[in-house]
Amino acid sequence: MAVKLTDLKLQDFQDFDNHERVVLIEDDTTNLTAVVSIHNNNLGPAMGGCRFYPYKTREEGYKDVLRLSRGMTYKSALANLALGGGKSIIFGDARADKTRDMLQSFGEGLEKLGGAYITAEDVGTNEADMLTISSQTSYVMGLPPSADNPLSGNPSPHTSQGVFTALEGLANEIYDDANALRGKRCGVMGLGAVGYGVAQKLNAAGAQLIVADINTEACARAEAEFADVKILGSDELLKTELDIFVPCAMGGVFDLDTIALLKTEIICGAANNQLATGRAEDRALYDGGMIYAPDYVVNAGGIIAVAYAYYHATDTNPYAWDLTPETLAKHVESIRATTLNIFNISRENNTPPGFVADELAENIFRNGVKPDLKIA
Ligand code: NAI
Repeated sequence: MAVKLTDLKLQDFQDFDNHERVVLIEDDTTNLTAVVSIHNNNLGPAMGGCRFYPYKTREEGYKDVLRLSRGMTYKSALANLALGGGKSIIFGDARADKTRDMLQSFGEGLEKLGGAYITAEDVGTNEADMLTISSQTSYVMGLPPSADNPLSGNPSPHTSQGVFTALEGLANEIYDDANALRGKRCGVMGLGAVGYGVAQKLNAAGAQLIVADINTEACARAEAEFADVKILGSDELLKTELDIFVPCAMGGVFDLDTIALLKTEIICGAANNQLATGRAEDRALYDGGMIYAPDYVVNAGGIIAVAYAYYHATDTNPYAWDLTPETLAKHVESIRATTLNIFNISRENNTPPGFVADELAENIFRNGVKPDLKIA
């Protein structure tokens, strides 16, 4: 293998936000073209998943990795984690192009970065891929659970739980009802690892499910499992009358055109970077009377789980409590209080929630504030 690392200068990209380092990792012999983006490491090493995706151009991939890595800094700060923000992408179609050799080259590249960035799974990568990467580097999490590290494993169920608890907390508050989800029309876009788990919880809470996925198998599974579920196309779901919209597919779903179509009261879902550009859509949703739960706040369950596994593996527990499945579950539950806090500040100050969340996060990571969370 001949892995080559090149620092990229992406200052001219609109999404460049004083990122610490952006590195191109290439290996001709395994057809690997990957990028690691480290946004900020004030709070700890930069952590974030590896996305394997068929970007149409290099620029499209650079833009995505810049935005995603920045989002991880904000996410970890508000999730009370001693971690910085990073992300990586591998160019290609995960189903057709992914090979063992390619992933091993990627692992070799990460090893050369010396721990400045720690990877895990994301769209297009899975536990088995992380295991392959781990043959070349220890800077990888999201591995299958083992006797050595019972906290490791697929983070998606924790992400589903975090989204659900935030959504339930918001609904109960807004409708002033302890069982507010019962009978509410909840539109779930994307029935993958996270979205399907959220749909199951919504179904158990008595919500009325309306779902969309481009994967017909996922829709068939939902039809078989959930009574009275309605299956729609994604475009249709966007314009359907709902109480709660739960975006769990890819990012960029809300731009000013799609926002004009929406008929929902609450938006709370897992997809990263739901707002096409950020501020403009946050403002448009707010002015349109819709309550948007910032994506990086409510989808932090996965990174919290990965962080616990990392602290366990590296003996770097920053908390006053033991790292156990129980403390992890309570930490994920804290997403509910964080979401409600942002909602309340937004309401009191007449400020869109995304602005509020960004400001809270910036105060933490820019000042290097240590995690502050109470877990009994
Ligand atoms: P996944 O790949 O398992 O599921 C995505 C689902 O969305 C798939 O079923 C896919 O067919 C569907 N989909 C894609 N485009 C669609 C479209 N235009 N309309 C309808 N459905 C569409 O991914 P996963 O892990 O469930 O992640 C979902 C989102 O949540 C992603 O944006 C991811 O970045 C984000 N996220 C995931 C975390 C995790 O722990 N897995 C953690 C934090 C964020």
